[in-house]
Amino acid sequence: MRIGYGEDAHRLVPNRRMVLGGVAVSSEVGPLAHSDGDALLHAITDALLTAVAAGDIGQLFPDTAPENAGRDSRVFLQRALSIVRAHGYRVAQLSAVVVLDRPKLGPYRGRIQASLAELLGIGPGEVGLAFKTSEGLAPEHIQARAVVRLVPQ
Ligand code: C5P
Ligand code: MG
Repeated sequence: MRIGYGEDAHRLVPNRRMVLGGVAVSSEVGPLAHSDGDALLHAITDALLTAVAAGDIGQLFPDTAPENAGRDSRVFLQRALSIVRAHGYRVAQLSAVVVLDRPKLGPYRGRIQASLAELLGIGPGEVGLAFKTSEGLAPEHIQARAVVRLVPQ
């Protein structure tokens, strides 16, 4: 098997949509980003890429490229998954942490879990999610960290 780890952070500002794991989250602030700013999908994408030593998200999708402006981060994840498959592996498990002071993500847990399970082609029981506040250390940021386990196809 192979293990991959990734993380991401975005500054939170007013008048931006918040999308997490492909799910819209109701929030007064959202990530400042070139793409849709889905920090959780970005962390998972880097976990997939680093698991097979295939570089990182910024190499595949530069934030200077106009075609990536406002882009749905599920596209980045799908590309990373096809690279994982080309290396002869598939995803078996995800474990991820999102650090965010507000809003509370608990009400979105089931939807985010189902969205990630579908995107990764695994059961919801293989998608572990923890939500944490920063205890005021990073109130204007969202941070995500993810570990994936890959197994041979
Ligand atoms: O960070 P802390 O340990 O205080 O988080 C307490 C609980 O709040 C956790 O169980 C977590 O599931 C939940 N939480 C949440 N949404 C956040 C941050 C934490 O639902 N944005
Ligand atoms: Mg990002």
